[in-house]
Amino acid sequence: MAKLLVANWKMNLTHEEIIHFFDELTKKYTHKRQAWIAPQAIHFSLSQSLARPLGVAVGIQNCSSFKNGAYTGEISPFSFKEMGGDFVILGHSERRQLFKESSSMINLKIKAALAAGLKVIYCIGETLGERESQQTFSIVSDQLNQGLSDLGPYINGKNLLLAYEPVWAIGTGKTATADEAQNVHSFIRGELALKFPLLGHGLPLLYGGSMKPENVEKLLAQKDIDGGLVGGAALKATDFLALCGDI
Ligand code: PGA
Repeated sequence: MAKLLVANWKMNLTHEEIIHFFDELTKKYTHKRQAWIAPQAIHFSLSQSLARPLGVAVGIQNCSSFKNGAYTGEISPFSFKEMGGDFVILGHSERRQLFKESSSMINLKIKAALAAGLKVIYCIGETLGERESQQTFSIVSDQLNQGLSDLGPYINGKNLLLAYEPVWAIGTGKTATADEAQNVHSFIRGELALKFPLLGHGLPLLYGGSMKPENVEKLLAQKDIDGGLVGGAALKATDFLALCGDI
């Protein structure tokens, strides 16, 4: 499988900047690696119209656990699917920390998104304090158990991806070393194989946390790293193209 690079634009980029990004991408993107883009939800239609001709999937960074109803300000995964959306990022550490989302709340969102027919990238990862107190594996294991509980009927091997993002590496310039990342990815692979005996072993595992052109090759060379979830280095087309192996 080609490695996958997912741009998580967070609450960044203007309309003009997005047009410029896709102009640049169009000139050089070769599909050597797969590229997906997650803009702010309000920029979905714009991004989709520019990404479609390139075969680049477009997703959003959060969604509701409800299908429809009186939930002011929320985005239904079913409406997003109806608009042509491809995937949703759920459980990002910024959602967990700033918006107090727990793994069990995220579990409901994952179920709704999968039921709507979207692909889901479920993010997990430990904080610096948790790493320093040797809790990485137990935290990641809890996030897997709670976030992915009772998903059996919803997954098909193609609609669930995991992103391991050590919180201390996100937006800080500190990257887990390739060995550190591989270590946790291999643990996650094992947990998923136990959880989903038929499909778990093959679910794509992305690494996130200060992935950039200088460290991407080493990270992607690891056996259990199938791609990356990228914030800062995905905001500029030249950097993102470099991550995609096209520069
Ligand atoms: P970063 O963000 O690449 O800027 O560290 C990654 C993420 O938050 O998904």
